Amino acid sequence: MKTELRIGLFDSGVGGLSVWRELVRRMPHRPTTYLADSAHCPYGPRPPEEIRRFSRGIVRFLIEQGAGIVVVACNTASAAALQALRAEFDVPIVGMEPAVKPAAQRTKTGHVGVLATAGTVNGDLFRNTSARHANGVTVHVGVGEGLVERVEAGQADTPETEALLREYLQPMIDAGVDQIALGCTHYPFLLPVIRRVVPEGVSVIDPAAAVVRQVERVLLREGLGASEAGAVEHRFFTSGQPEALAAMVRALTGHAPKVAKVRWEDRELKRK
Ligand code: DGL
Repeated sequence: MKTELRIGLFDSGVGGLSVWRELVRRMPHRPTTYLADSAHCPYGPRPPEEIRRFSRGIVRFLIEQGAGIVVVACNTASAAALQALRAEFDVPIVGMEPAVKPAAQRTKTGHVGVLATAGTVNGDLFRNTSARHANGVTVHVGVGEGLVERVEAGQADTPETEALLREYLQPMIDAGVDQIALGCTHYPFLLPVIRRVVPEGVSVIDPAAAVVRQVERVLLREGLGASEAGAVEHRFFTSGQPEALAAMVRALTGHAPKVAKVRWEDRELKRK
């Protein structure tokens, strides 16, 4: 029997589910393994070396669990670890970065906004992309401190979250942005609130579709393009509380998964 290529994804928590749900929609016949490193969430304020260490342990684990390609469904981990992961592991690794390029191509006002974590906006990846693709366009950056925690706590749509979003988005709106790139995979879960905060005519870019297209391109390039119709199994792991992740997956994606616990031991992730 032919075994289907398993796609591994990870994030500091539930944010990567915004990529996972798009992936499963576009490629319903691909089995996936999702890992939420909830024990270490949020990644945003952590030093890059630490995020690299977590990411390496997670990718090793996902490959052991049968992943043939890994999606770093987290901008902060991509900023800190993408290069190191590609150097260390043989499987293809797809990362994410704020969608400055499409935002800069689409803007009519010449002003684009990026909302992301501190780790992402302080990383070289973001600096280089902005320098390469934003020429002539002004990039207004907001650091979404506290937003990841609110999504993780199931408080995506509350007055407090809306107040935070106003605080971060109003300055870029006042500066005239007509494109806002969401540079953290947790933020698409805030879209209903974001749409209340930003005026009509301002486009908000969720990068999930672009990342999934990139996964498709990489699979084709690697000769892994074909997938067979049939039932697939999606596996979920967390370094936090399995019941909490299961509840969030249900709330955010409508899927009802079984979630297994993993533990960090000597920098290695082990199944409990
Ligand atoms: N969802 C993540 C990202 O895309 C990580 C956020 C965090 O843990 O701070 O950046």
